Order: sequence, then C-alpha cells, then structure tokens
Amino acid sequence: MCGIVGFSGTGDVVSVLLDGLSRLEYRGYDSAGLACLDSGKIWCVRRTGKVAELERAVRSAPLPAGAWASTGNGPAASVGIAHTRWATHGSPTERNAHPHLDCTGRIAVIHNGILDNYRSLRRRLEDQGHSIASDTDSELLAHLLEEGLASGKSLHEAARHAMSEAEGAIAMAAIAAEYPDCVVVARRDSPLLVGKEETFSIAASDIPALLPYTRNVVVLEDGEVAVLKGPKVELYDSEGNRTSPRFRKISWEAESPELGRFPDFMLKEIYEQPEAVARTLMSRVDAGNIVLDDVRIDPADLASISKVCAVACGTSYHAALASKYSTERWARIAVEVDLSSEFRYRDPVIDDRVLLVAISQSGETADSLAALRHARAQGARVLTICNVVDSSMARESDAVLYTRAGPEIGVAATKTFLAQLTATTLLGLYLGQQRKHLDTSQVAATIAGMQQIPDLLSRHLPRWDEEMSALADRFAETRDVFFLGRGPGYPVALEGALKLKEISYLRAEGYAAGEMKHGPIALIEPGVVVFVIGTASKTQEKVFSNLEEVKARGATTVLVIDSESRALAPESDFVVEVPRVDELLSPMIDVVPLQLFAYYMAKRRGLDVDKPRNLAKTVTVE
Ligand code: M6R
Repeated sequence: MCGIVGFSGTGDVVSVLLDGLSRLEYRGYDSAGLACLDSGKIWCVRRTGKVAELERAVRSAPLPAGAWASTGNGPAASVGIAHTRWATHGSPTERNAHPHLDCTGRIAVIHNGILDNYRSLRRRLEDQGHSIASDTDSELLAHLLEEGLASGKSLHEAARHAMSEAEGAIAMAAIAAEYPDCVVVARRDSPLLVGKEETFSIAASDIPALLPYTRNVVVLEDGEVAVLKGPKVELYDSEGNRTSPRFRKISWEAESPELGRFPDFMLKEIYEQPEAVARTLMSRVDAGNIVLDDVRIDPADLASISKVCAVACGTSYHAALASKYSTERWARIAVEVDLSSEFRYRDPVIDDRVLLVAISQSGETADSLAALRHARAQGARVLTICNVVDSSMARESDAVLYTRAGPEIGVAATKTFLAQLTATTLLGLYLGQQRKHLDTSQVAATIAGMQQIPDLLSRHLPRWDEEMSALADRFAETRDVFFLGRGPGYPVALEGALKLKEISYLRAEGYAAGEMKHGPIALIEPGVVVFVIGTASKTQEKVFSNLEEVKARGATTVLVIDSESRALAPESDFVVEVPRVDELLSPMIDVVPLQLFAYYMAKRRGLDVDKPRNLAKTVTVE
C-alpha cells in the first residue's frame, strides 16, 4: 500500500511533495516522510500520523536551500521523494516511516509493496555488514541500491539490481547524493506513473497526485525503471534497454471535494447517495431496455457464457454477493462470488466461457487486480465495475462499467456501494435481456423501480438520520451488535456489520439469519443488540421467526421493515421503517440506515470517521 511521490526539476519541491502526499493519503496514513537533496546531503523528515503532522514538522524544521526554491533562497532545481505509509512490516513508528536510508546516509528510498523474500534478504544483507535500522522490508531496497552503486553500477542499473534481488510487489523511488538532479523510480506489481512538463518531471502512485502539475503521463509497465532528471525522463525496459516513454494526455479533471455543510466526508457521502444512484443509471436505460455501451463484449458471446464469477473485497464484495441474487434470478446463469484474496489460490475452474466481473471502488485493490489477471490468463472475459476512471483494473479489463459516484474520500465506502449495487443491477438485467430470460415488460418494471430509488432515498434520509442518531445515544454502552438477514438482506447484514466495525471499532457480526441456530446464537444474551433486515422478501416469514429466536434469548432487537409489512411484523424493541421496493432492489434502501447507525456510533465515541485507525482507502498490498 502506501503513496509515493518523487520530483525532479524547478519548483517548490517540498510543497509539491506535501501536496502530492495529501492527495495520496487514501492509500495509508500511519506515518509520512520526505527526503530532499541539498548541497550534496540528504535532508529527511519523518513523522508518525497523518501528512498534516509531517507538514507541521517540515514547516518548522531548518530548511535546506534547494528545498525552498520558490522563496528564492537557493538553487531553483532540486529533487525529492515523499511517502505516506500503511504499515505492513514494522509498527507505525517514526523509525519505520519512509524514506529509509542506506548505511552511508547517501541514498534515500520510499517503497509501496511488500518484499516476499524479506527475511532471507535481510539476513544476507546483515551478514554482508549492512546495518538495518528499521523493522521494515522497504529499507532493504536502500541497501540493495547501495550495493549496486558500490559495485560500479549506474543509478538505473542499481535500481534494476535491487528489483532483481527483491521479490514481490515494488513501486519505489530513490535519490542518491551522487546523482544530485535525479530521482530513480521502478515498479513491479504496484502502480507507478510518471509525468513531465518543460521544467520538471514527477512520479506518483496515482493520477490525482500528478494532475495539478501535469497531464502528460506515462504508466510504468512491470519491470520498467525510469530516471527523472528535471524535464527529462529516461526509461528502461525490464531487460535494461533504453526505450521511449509513451506519454499520453490525461483528459479527466481532478475533483477536490469540499465538505460544505457536513462535518465529515462520510456523512456527506451518505447524503450523496441519491445522486450516485441517479448518475450511475443515467443514459443506461432507454425505453425499457438496458443500454450498456461500455460493455464492449459481443452480445453473442455474452449469450453463450457458462457462468459469471464475481470477485471483490470488503464492501465491494457485499455488492458482488447482492448481485448473485439478482443476476441468477434475472439471467438464469450461475454466479460464483469470491473474495478476491481467495479466488486464484483455490484454483477456480475458468475458461473462455466465463465472464469475470471484478468490482472495486478504486480499481487498484491488489487482491482484485490479481484475481482479474488470473482469470484473464485462463481466457475469461473480464468486466470491471469501478469508480475511478482509468484505474489499473479498468485498464486491464475487456470492458468497464463505471459507477459514477464521484470521488469518495471517507475510508468507509457508502455512496460507492450504492453505485455498485446500481451497476450490478443494470448488468444483471442486461444479461437477462441478452440471454432472453427477461422480456421488455419485466425489465421496464425493474427499471421503473430503480428510477424511484434516488427520490426515496432523498425523502427518507433526514428521518433515518434523526432516528439513527437517537439509537446511537440509546446504545452508547453497547459492545456487541449482530446484523441478520436472508437472501438479498444477507449482504446488507454483512455491510451493516462491516461499517460498524471499521469506523466505531465495536464488535459486530453480520450473519445469515437462518444460520444463527447452528452456533452463533450461543452468543445471544441480554445486552446484545441485533439488527434484523426484515423487509418484504421470499423469506420474510422466516426472518421474523429468526427475530423471535434472538428476542427469546434476551437480545435487544432493531427491525428494519418496509412500511407495508410493518403491521405483520413481530414485536421488536426498535423499528426502522423503510419504503417498500422490489426484494432484489431492497439492499439499496435497507443499508442506508445501517450506514447512519455506524456513523453516529463512531461519532459518539469521538472517532475520526473519515480516517479510521489501521485502514486505508485503497489497499494495494495482497
Ligand atoms: O477499492 P475497493 O472497492 O476494491 O476496496 C475494497 C475494500 O478495501 C473496501 O471496500 C473496504 O472494505 C472499505 N473500507 C469498506 O468500507
């Protein structure tokens, strides 16, 4: 994981680096650091915590002349690298923060990824006399560069040497005192992009960090090494041959969302859900038909696929799970759903008649990218559903169905989940149509139902907001919460639990309601709160029985129920009323009060809902 930035050329190097880091903080925020070259020496500042902490430290530190070119105090050209970390090897301390230096203190390295052969490599380097100062795997890259340069290799050759000695995922950037105007960058299995203008070049893990400075961007391929030297970018392929960088123009705009009237991004994004759904639907339905121009897979091929495999992580996995219920019903095709991290290791049965649907907000999640590549290598057609335009997964797929939720800043996925549910619903209907299992009137009826959802959400959000805030007050002391659902209510239960866990740090379990009696019901006792998703469905009666079962064992129950079923529902301690929609569309409604409940529980506990501990918005390590 982690975000990296490198800069070489004319400009206010430190400010560019700090600005880049703030745009990459979604990749981790355990600690941050930067290093610049000044008068032949490496100047390095590192801090635990968020980029703001680093900025405070940097702004109050004695500054090297070159680092402040814009103040006119020093030479106008300089180089620097910066990093925001999500800890893998070694706790999030200052000692483990990047950049890491070699033994001589004349090379500084930042790294995003994991070195798989960390232990043996560390042993080898220590045996050869290197003194390793941190617990990280990343520091070893500094010593490998040191080894390379000491053996007479040039900077790019030393980087190739480091890449060949270190196994695993690497995106790295380094500076060396012997190369005062260069930043060397290299990548394998972790993303890295390079941009350039007339007076500088810049590298970063992701496009948003580059966009304020340049639109001329090259995405490095696996194994490539580049040397940034002011406006010049030297590129070397995986064999070490010099090649020409293929710069292309990025056309999309960097959006910088404002909080507006909201105290945090999570609440703002919960309120943006009606728009996220509407935008994802926009221009994709026409006169009772689903129009998916983005799905550039021959309809005849789609009609002949033998199964769909859906892969995703976290919240996106819950969207994939929800899609199983709808797509199987509408298209009468088997949908296998896997956590991306499990998929390729179970050796799934894949061939060219499989449609792999990879779902991801970021399109950069390492597990999902690896699953996608695995399926593609076996001949599957790959369709990615993602929110970030031009992401790695989008680039590596046969087709992309973009969710149009807009940038999501809160680490907890909310509006992108609803946008994913919208996209998977469209895809399910489209497959149903292409495979002739749905007629136009069935599709039109479901589309009409979907088109009502933005308005239903807008109308009910303020009431749910008040009710969930009050419920969070009522459950201020609660430590154990269950979420139960069946059918499409099951992924809703999982998502309700995930939201509560990740931002309020409370123990929360999402469970298939019918499965409770096979073990977990032993955990039910007075004091445990159980949310039951009981909206209209094939299994509503069964869910009601499951509610009775936990109530009988002393649980405090909260029933999520649609207005028309309320009169039929069993007694519950608390009731959250939602509008009635088609069972297969119900996750798009039922999950929203649960998001708000998690939000208010976290707020009551005084937590940072936008940047919960130990997490990162984009998970780029396996
Ligand atoms: O970018 P992706 O959708 O692939 O990310 C997957 C998960 O990391 C993500 O959904 C995570 O679980 C969120 N924090 C959930 O709120």
